[in-house]
Amino acid sequence: MNKASVNKRLAVYPGTFDPITNGHADLVSRAAPLFERVVVAVAESSGKGPGFSLDERITLARLALADLPNVEVRGFNSLLADFVTDMGAGVIIRGLRAVSDFEYEFQLASMNRHLIPQAETLFLTPAEQYSFISSSLVREIGRLGGDISSFVHPAVQQAMRQRWRK
Ligand code: COA
Repeated sequence: MNKASVNKRLAVYPGTFDPITNGHADLVSRAAPLFERVVVAVAESSGKGPGFSLDERITLARLALADLPNVEVRGFNSLLADFVTDMGAGVIIRGLRAVSDFEYEFQLASMNRHLIPQAETLFLTPAEQYSFISSSLVREIGRLGGDISSFVHPAVQQAMRQRWRK
């Protein structure tokens, strides 16, 4: 696929989203007005040892992003480059919260540029109050009974409560 045949108005925002946080949702709400369509691509990420299954993570992301009409949530278990190529998307969105994210994100973007030169990686920054949130911290605080209500959508909070009860 060459540069001309990809849709630069279609963006893919990939991640593990285990679970989706208000920081992720903030980023999607910033991306949504910039593109015709944003596909939030939930990676299976089996190596990361996720807390929620792929199906659960997709459902929670759909609930958290339900008010954004041009946003669609899909799961994938392939190479991101193949998913982006199959979608015909011209843009990959990633979030940068702090300088510490940069090295990994630079590596990821460079590798994806090598694999799919037709797509550009675009970095967005979340609102300041979300710059310290991560899914693993949210999982840990939730598991230990702490208050995660300001970090996640109520549906995510409920799903996590049910999980700890088991
Ligand atoms: N707000 C809150 N948290 C955020 C955030 C934001 N705006 N942006 C990132 N994070 C957090 C995540 O919660 C996550 O925290 P955690 O590590 O504690 O769980 C961390 O930052 C990074 O997670 P995420 O953005 O989900 O990325 P990832 O590193 O889990 O996933 C993929 C990266 C899925 C894009 C990558 O692994 C991938 O492409 N996988 C498919 C296979 C593939 O193609 N591999 C080769 C890649 S070149």
